[in-house]
Amino acid sequence: MCGIIGYIGHQEAQNILLDGLHRLEYRGYDSAGIVVMHEGELALRKKAGRVPELSQLVAERPVTGTLGIGHTRWATHGEVNDANSHPHFGGEGEVCLVHNGVIENYTSLRDALQEKGYEFKTETDSEAVAHLLAYEYREQLGKNGSVADATSCLNALQATLKQLKGTYGLVVLFRDVPNTMFVARVGSPLVIGIGNKEHFVASDAGPLLGHTDEVVYLSDNELAVITADDLKIVHRDTGAIDPKVQIIEQSDGNADLGDYEHYMLKEIYEQPRAVENALRGRFNDDEATAVFGGLNMTAQQLRRIDRIVLTACGTSWHAGLVGEYLLEEFARVPTEVEYASELRYRNPPMSENTMIFAITQSGETADTLAAMRECKRKGHPTLAICNVVGSTIAREADGGIYLHAGPEIGVASTKAFTSQVTVLTLLALFFGRMRHLSYPAGKRIIRGLQSIPELMEQTLKCHEMVKYVAEKYSEKNNFLYLGRLYNFPVALEGALKLKEISYIHAEGYPAAEMKHGPLALVDKNTPSVFVVPKCGIYPKVISNLEEVKARKGPVIAIACHGDEKIAELADDVIYVPDVEEYLQPLITSIPLQLLSYHIALLRNCNVDRPRNLAKSVTVE
Ligand code: G6P
Repeated sequence: MCGIIGYIGHQEAQNILLDGLHRLEYRGYDSAGIVVMHEGELALRKKAGRVPELSQLVAERPVTGTLGIGHTRWATHGEVNDANSHPHFGGEGEVCLVHNGVIENYTSLRDALQEKGYEFKTETDSEAVAHLLAYEYREQLGKNGSVADATSCLNALQATLKQLKGTYGLVVLFRDVPNTMFVARVGSPLVIGIGNKEHFVASDAGPLLGHTDEVVYLSDNELAVITADDLKIVHRDTGAIDPKVQIIEQSDGNADLGDYEHYMLKEIYEQPRAVENALRGRFNDDEATAVFGGLNMTAQQLRRIDRIVLTACGTSWHAGLVGEYLLEEFARVPTEVEYASELRYRNPPMSENTMIFAITQSGETADTLAAMRECKRKGHPTLAICNVVGSTIAREADGGIYLHAGPEIGVASTKAFTSQVTVLTLLALFFGRMRHLSYPAGKRIIRGLQSIPELMEQTLKCHEMVKYVAEKYSEKNNFLYLGRLYNFPVALEGALKLKEISYIHAEGYPAAEMKHGPLALVDKNTPSVFVVPKCGIYPKVISNLEEVKARKGPVIAIACHGDEKIAELADDVIYVPDVEEYLQPLITSIPLQLLSYHIALLRNCNVDRPRNLAKSVTVE
């Protein structure tokens, strides 16, 4: 949520900043801007709209200089317009910054600064930080005889940070100190790249690829003072600390579109490989169990776990719900999936041996991070199921499991969902085999999981049929998604996908709950998508489907190949391969992803960058 970039070195900053913003655009795309230090001035280019529009503006009015900062915005305070775009200036232009996060006390700061004569030009919380910084900077100059140097700037920054409540990733330039960049973080991710006589700052490591593989992840309450050849890190309370340099992989995991029209479609098609990667090296065939390298707990500790809490947001929460069903079924461990935004403020009773898993694609979701920290503070083992290596949640967790799904760029999550479900199935196998699950049952699960990549390939063949269904129903304005047991989370996820990218109202429900409310919505203009593959309660789901048909509701069924009966009942059927019930979400979610994709296209929606949303939600 908001992408930040900074560069200091010997190359022209402008292109590095624009390229970095392009890679960070998944974090927000309401507006974009850069400032480049040019002959002692801070040259600003910013504009509402996407990064390509900013690039166009910069092409018309280029800025030369080797020090600069940039920002791509997901609006929190103040509408989307040119003025509210970052960077923001403080004082009379002597300070300039980009900010990711939310300053909770910005109104009181703004009021106090306005009284001191500072003039606000935007509706953002960030501008209050810029003016406060300018004020503190002037105070520092007053103290040391107007010497504008890095020390005055650092002191001003520290004095400013002490007054902020909320979260921030900040990159700051001072007009009168033309060779230094200042960085600070609480709650919003920042990574510093170390090059050859140059440094980079970004919200994640993506923009650094191709420039350097040496990085330092900034932790909360740390500040950095950066010049072309020097990097100093200071902790707010403990003073200077040695930068912990890490090497990141020099591969962007193929973040290019290739022959695909959209990232979402590419990522849907990548699912067989993503699942293969999630499974790679994680089976112990001899013992019919799963293997994880990073749980960082002994078998004895794991054996004592008597409750599991999964916490997540959005699609990751839906994967967590599948996880709850799997863990209770196979491991018989009481499991609960909690919305992270609720868990962070709730105080549910948790036994001493409760284990927490934060499930997150990005590893940066603010609510998930806060929920995880709250559980950690209470002393529970707190692990992460995460895709982005080196993300804040991955680093702060006591241990965890990476998805290895590769970069997911489309805002609507697809391959991360199926990879999360894959990892949770492995986890259920692992905990199950420590408890009640027999050797043959363990073997069966392994064989089932191994068959998934190929079955996903076969599932993708439903694409043409999905296109046909999308065309038939794309003008409807309400959809219901229904499923039971393992396919109830799939129904929720299907409805979320449609809402996210086509702006159609959709609700996911357990099919049998229809008669307690949603059935009242059914009419000839409200299609119901029934996820009804072969399962133990198939006849019951069919009864629910008939209840909809009896009320003239159009029915689209996701059913198993060979199910002829369903064709007589449903208006349209999308067939998928038959798999054991607990593996069905990995298969049945695919046609629903494709359906939302095609309906969104037909409605001329921006599939990869839906309005109002962002991929990485780093504000509360
Ligand atoms: C945003 C994204 C969703 C994602 C959710 C949780 O809302 O648009 O696709 O499921 O955040 O993100 P996480 O990175 O924690 O899985």
